[in-house]
Amino acid sequence: MKILGIETSCDETAASIVENGTTILSNIVASSSDIHTKTGGIIPEEAARQQIVSIIPVVNQALVEAFGNNDPSTIDAIGVTYGPGLIGSLLVGVETAKTLSFLWKKPIIPVNHLVGHIYANWLSGPKEPKPEFPALALVVSGGHTDLVLMLGHGKFEWIGGTRDDAAGEAFDKTARLMGLPYPGGPSISKAADQYFNSKSSRSNKVLNKFPRPMIGKDNFDWSFSGLKTAVLREFENVSNKHNQVGHFSAEVQEAIVDVLVQKTLKAVNKFKPKSLLLAGGVVANSRLRNKFSDEIGDQTENIDLFVPPPKLCTDNAAYIAGCAFFIKKATNWDRLASNPQLSIMGTS
Ligand code: KG4
Ligand code: ZN
Repeated sequence: MKILGIETSCDETAASIVENGTTILSNIVASSSDIHTKTGGIIPEEAARQQIVSIIPVVNQALVEAFGNNDPSTIDAIGVTYGPGLIGSLLVGVETAKTLSFLWKKPIIPVNHLVGHIYANWLSGPKEPKPEFPALALVVSGGHTDLVLMLGHGKFEWIGGTRDDAAGEAFDKTARLMGLPYPGGPSISKAADQYFNSKSSRSNKVLNKFPRPMIGKDNFDWSFSGLKTAVLREFENVSNKHNQVGHFSAEVQEAIVDVLVQKTLKAVNKFKPKSLLLAGGVVANSRLRNKFSDEIGDQTENIDLFVPPPKLCTDNAAYIAGCAFFIKKATNWDRLASNPQLSIMGTS
């Protein structure tokens, strides 16, 4: 079964063809991120305008790369992100998918963007081992941080999440405070890597400048909003700010990664899943990826860790097409509406 995935929840316009939820035939992503770098963050109106410019060429290219032409007869269904996200951006993908569904007479499968992220862990081709249930999934994106237990395809129990800012938001906001460009996660990661490779880091290996809120609490929740204030306060007091950005970035990254890893491991110990799945843009962070591999490797042999390649962690339509294949809940094009506020557990 070949599914066309469409993803336009934020500042990426993406289309992809995926076979049987595991094999990527094409994966096209156009991003308006450079425009938002100039303004220091996303202006929703501008993101939506760029979605309109890119959507048709991106869908066209996804078909051509997969099949050598843009004949839609080879696809079996269309999967589309219907939430959560920016309303203007979502509308472009949803209305395009509805129109194509009507014109091409193909079923349409609505996909929750956050659930979609998890399905990046199935995109390793037909032969590689796949996650087994029950699986624990950590979803860390720009707007959401959730820990869910996955009992089967599309069957979730919510275990915990952030009480305020998302992990990606914490990266983005603290980066902005230090004058680093949008998106903040990759900027902080790069500055931290440079710091680790520099001489100055060798004399100061301990990274504990910032608090790890709720790390000892008996739940699976996070709080990241205090980090902004802590960074602002400390950064204001340093004299040579330019020289301190690397060290501060390493500290911020370590504080975020530490709490994400510790709370997730706590959930692993309690729920004893067969697989641990990482998902969302923040999983592109190499410190997070390495720390999870180290800890899971050390901890137990009874759990398999799945970490998608960085390109499949950040927003793209391959995991939307993959998720649509496994979820399989088609609807009529005239019954589908965007839902910007959708939660990971939500269906409407
Ligand atoms: O999943 P995603 O691509 O889009 C949303 O659904 O929000 O996640 C975007 C988030 C942003 O906050 C971005 O700063 C963060 O993922 N991110 C990273 C890295 N790459 C992207 N955070 C830390 N390190 C990275 N390398
Ligand atoms: Zn996302």
